[in-house]
Amino acid sequence: MRDDPDPPIAPIPAALLQWYDRSARVMPWRIGPTERQDGVRPDPYRIWLSEVMLQQTTVAAVRDYFRRFTERWPTVADLAAAADADVMAEWAGLGYYARARNLLKCARTVVADHGGRFPATRDGLLALPGIGPYTAAAIAAIAHDEAAVVVDGNVERVVSRLFAVETPLPAAKPELTALAARLTPDARPGDHAQAMMDLGATICTPRNPACGICPLRHFCAAQAAGIAADLPRKAPKAARPEREGIAYVVRRDDGAMLLERRPGRGLLGGMLGWPGAGWAMSPDPAAPPVPPIQAVWQEAPVTIRHTFTHFHLTLTVTVARVPLQARPTRGHFVLHDSFRPADLPTLMRKVHDAARFLLPDTP
Ligand code: ADE
Repeated sequence: MRDDPDPPIAPIPAALLQWYDRSARVMPWRIGPTERQDGVRPDPYRIWLSEVMLQQTTVAAVRDYFRRFTERWPTVADLAAAADADVMAEWAGLGYYARARNLLKCARTVVADHGGRFPATRDGLLALPGIGPYTAAAIAAIAHDEAAVVVDGNVERVVSRLFAVETPLPAAKPELTALAARLTPDARPGDHAQAMMDLGATICTPRNPACGICPLRHFCAAQAAGIAADLPRKAPKAARPEREGIAYVVRRDDGAMLLERRPGRGLLGGMLGWPGAGWAMSPDPAAPPVPPIQAVWQEAPVTIRHTFTHFHLTLTVTVARVPLQARPTRGHFVLHDSFRPADLPTLMRKVHDAARFLLPDTP
């Protein structure tokens, strides 16, 4: 294909859709190709929710969260009426918590400004809080069969290989988007978008792509050149810096735990966690750490490693037991019966597990 600068492109989406009709993955939010051809329409709320959850997160990790969210909040109006703390607690463990805060904002905007119905076009969706070009295109295509161009990491990989694009990412993005647009058919654009993503996730994988069983192998320039596994090329990433900090785990004699809700914006924003020092809470990371309560502190025998988008973190966990009358300078005590480690983000759960060495007995 590389010898021919402008080969016919229509056979590619046709072959892809044929493969999708046989091999579409089953997902709790998905209307499969057969049901879709029988006229079943996807629910834009479920498509929106799944697409927001799937950003930076695998299908396997999302399934249970999606099920819990849709059981608890079956419609966008139900979600819009939810308490912030309940939504943040259900999201705990999925990461990238700005997504959960924007989810609520978006649900409330859909209810307040759109009568509880998601806009039906890419441009209308793009105007909602927390919906960027990818999500708007995905919802427009999947829920409304608009021929929107849906480009995520899977699609970038598939397209870079099909057309043997050697430009490294992220510089290659406009070129890959233009090629993805040429591939997007007017018929069944929603199935096409999902087929591209399924192909990228199951066959055209980052390492060891299964070119031998790929429905597009006869069209693939990278496969012909023997370089499929090398694409897409990527510009080297800057190394993540290292940060250090302290997490304070305090248990009162009645079993209550000292927790703090983090500020709405920023790292783990809006989530419940242990008071900390040195890594994100204090304005000056070089300032001496200030514990949230007067106590005798004991250091846990293990430190916690956690990687955020922009840095690696090593946390020392310090633990204290305090009497009933102790008053914290930050945070609030959560009674033993109300404390649910599952409501905490993953980092804070790791801290809890480390602290349990020193707090073995529960009252
Ligand atoms: N990843 C993100 N959205 C997806 C979808 N709709 N189908 C398959 N994989 C996806």
